[in-house]
Amino acid sequence: MSRIAYVNGTYVPHSEAVIHVEDRGYQFSDGVYEVAAVCRSRIIDEHGHLLRLKRSLNQLRMTMPMADGPFAMVSRETLRRNRVNDGILYIQVSRGVSRRDHPFPDGVEPALVMTARAVPWPQDAHSDPGAQVVSVDDIRWLRRDIKSVSLLPNVLAKQEAREQGAYEAWLIDSDGFVTEGSSTNAWIVDAEGRIVTRELSHNILGGITRATVIELARDNGIEVVERKFALEEALASPEAFLTSTTSFVRGIVGIDGREIGNGTTGPVTCRLRGLYLEYCRGAGSNA
Ligand code: PDD
Repeated sequence: MSRIAYVNGTYVPHSEAVIHVEDRGYQFSDGVYEVAAVCRSRIIDEHGHLLRLKRSLNQLRMTMPMADGPFAMVSRETLRRNRVNDGILYIQVSRGVSRRDHPFPDGVEPALVMTARAVPWPQDAHSDPGAQVVSVDDIRWLRRDIKSVSLLPNVLAKQEAREQGAYEAWLIDSDGFVTEGSSTNAWIVDAEGRIVTRELSHNILGGITRATVIELARDNGIEVVERKFALEEALASPEAFLTSTTSFVRGIVGIDGREIGNGTTGPVTCRLRGLYLEYCRGAGSNA
């Protein structure tokens, strides 16, 4: 079956989905994006993704390209036309097309693109073999809270991980603390069984999965601490894990080649993974 993309008001075959050479997203990274998971034809945490998209746009002094109702309809239609029951929805909004010049152009319509593809969901909480992580310097700009399409440092970090045979790169700030992964939020479990992740600030992306996992943990009697932690602390922790829309909750079994815990996904991580997958198969919507 051929894939279909939504590009600026039209559904087109994926192979014919093109944007203008002077789209500012292409030339300046002047745009933002969202990736949402789809489970059993429902968009997980749809509201949270919409709020974050609006927030990112707002930081760029842009507004939504259409009202919420039509936007939700285009999202669903993109999924329907691609027959995605389980998978991901990608949304990108750029400032639009204009002759190349740095300041915001006048009277330009934002450009909206949506794509979707099927991705099978994990069968159960224990199907996770656990990920290897490598640490790299965090060389990104100072507004990582904006989900900007400017992902070059993230791409370089992920490539470094792949070349070292790892799944993810943890980004380390100049004081030796973990900010987050190249496309995931970073977590450890402390000696008391509390889960620890860096507090929200301009330094990290406020992950939608992160927010849901915090809620699920608290609802299920797992204490959550939002604070920064050093790479050294992570190496000595009984468990570490990562979260994102596309990785769900995934155990980390090694960092920089050193084993975490006993080298398998730990019990707290397994429990959270189970809770998260169950949540996605059920209601799947945070407020
Ligand atoms: N990445 N941190 C960064 C830098 C990210 O790019 C992402 C998401 C996350 C996790 O956010 P969420 O839980 O909302 O997916 C954290 C997406 C999946 C991507 O770029 O493909």
